[in-house]
Amino acid sequence: MSETRADARTPLDRTPEWAALAKHREEFGDTHLRELFAADPERGRRYTLQVGDLHVDYAKQLVTDETLALLRELAGATGVAALRDAMFRGERINTTEDRAVLHTALRAPRDAVIEVDGENVVPAVHAVLDRMAAFAEQVRGGEWRGHTGKRIRAVVNIGIGGSDLGPAMAHEVLRSFSRRDLDVRFVSNVDGADLHEAVRDLDAAETLFVVASKTFTTIETITNAVSARNWLLAELGAGADAVAKHFVALSTNAEGVADFGIDTANMFEFWDWVGGRYSYDSAIGLSLMIAIGPDAFREMLDGFHLVDEHFRTAPPEENVPLLLGLLGVWYGAFFDAQAHAVLPYSHYLSKFTAYLQQLDMESNGKSVDRDGKPVSWQTGPVVWGTPGTNGQHAYYQLLHQGTKVIPADFIGFAEPVADLPPGLVAQHDLLLANFFAQTQALAFGRTPEEVAAEGVPAELVPHKTFRGNHPTTTVLAGALTPSVLGQLVALYEHKVFVQGAIWNIDSFDQWGVELGKVLAKRIEPVLLTGEGAEQLDSSTAALVARYRELRGR
Ligand code: F6P
Repeated sequence: MSETRADARTPLDRTPEWAALAKHREEFGDTHLRELFAADPERGRRYTLQVGDLHVDYAKQLVTDETLALLRELAGATGVAALRDAMFRGERINTTEDRAVLHTALRAPRDAVIEVDGENVVPAVHAVLDRMAAFAEQVRGGEWRGHTGKRIRAVVNIGIGGSDLGPAMAHEVLRSFSRRDLDVRFVSNVDGADLHEAVRDLDAAETLFVVASKTFTTIETITNAVSARNWLLAELGAGADAVAKHFVALSTNAEGVADFGIDTANMFEFWDWVGGRYSYDSAIGLSLMIAIGPDAFREMLDGFHLVDEHFRTAPPEENVPLLLGLLGVWYGAFFDAQAHAVLPYSHYLSKFTAYLQQLDMESNGKSVDRDGKPVSWQTGPVVWGTPGTNGQHAYYQLLHQGTKVIPADFIGFAEPVADLPPGLVAQHDLLLANFFAQTQALAFGRTPEEVAAEGVPAELVPHKTFRGNHPTTTVLAGALTPSVLGQLVALYEHKVFVQGAIWNIDSFDQWGVELGKVLAKRIEPVLLTGEGAEQLDSSTAALVARYRELRGR
């Protein structure tokens, strides 16, 4: 990638590279994937890239060699490579919070040197990983005992956002690698029902709570943690000294942890240069590590690192995160695409898209640039999706025949998971047949002529016609392993990075979550006493009054 960063103050849509893309888009017009494939019999072979175990097919994207070249020029002109290198060097590229962005250091090898303010952070990263590993082994091996001397059989992770979605997603993905006799659960919602359902059938004497919060001030997490502590002490009929054997904390805030009543000896730390949504490969992954073991966790970190190195060093033509980022920029800017679907063909990836929602939408859901000026181009898309085959019988209708442009990523694995019973392995071909069929249908559709030729009555032909030309990327890996999960997550992290760099926004802050927090704090006492309702707008005041009435207040 080019090392030059163009004048950051030139608005993106006034750069010559943008203008060249706009012109190219006009020329591209309604070019159909059918034409692109017909014009180049090698397209399906040429438009693929490999990173680690991930085979990435982008032949079914609405691009030509020229599109790709122009997009890469845009990346060059907007200084993607320079910003990437600054991130890897530990510079404070999260300018609105004045922080370095170094999740890549979490998976750097032991002998790497990565400095923040002149200090190599890698030894501290590995020291925490080693402590986590020792603790995970103690729990897994039954040496860590609860207050009454029983071994731990259930782990309840309490956290929200990045302190929940990452470990919860990865635990689901890697279920077949996890200790099946350890029950690992995740509580995030401040709705008491979440904690209630998580603990109602657990034996407190065998339960470990992992309180995960970067700041240790997040109201949902602290509220749930207090309730969990009350539940534990009531169930055990014990005093506060029981907490030490049943609560550990994952945080950057030792003071907050101590104030809560958790011994900081039972705290696993991370650092302010790890963003919440980029943190499940830090101490935030402890519940996951307990489930899958330290070796599998390290294998996952190696997978992350492999893609980090690829992103850092691969030339633009072969750089997969760069490519995926550019494709999203292309559709958002020039096809008015508002959304991006991620459709995994693996039951184990059922929480993957929810995880990506935070990663992508909290990172790139911004409307001012790095200098605080409003942007006049599309930024991050609405990311959505669920496992593919279920989606086929729900919302794929809209993908195939609706009016919206929704680029989609299809993710599948050649091998079923290793512990799938032989009787179920046979279903895997059917799963993958659907995986391949859908991108084919989306790309090529079915013309009215083809429909009519099947003897369909004329009045039904328009209903049974598939326009096609819906862009997709297919990511196919051999097997779903810890390393492959790390590779996939890093791929999306860096894709999001590329887009934020091009759009000139700060992908690493999240000021948009603050206002709701402030208002909720103001409204809560009004719900209890009714006092202060007159300060609310008339809609909210009426809703609050109705709520109080329904609650008999
Ligand atoms: O409110 C949003 C957010 O700050 C996320 O960015 C973060 O992942 C989540 O809350 C949880 O924060 P913490 O880990 O500090 O409890």
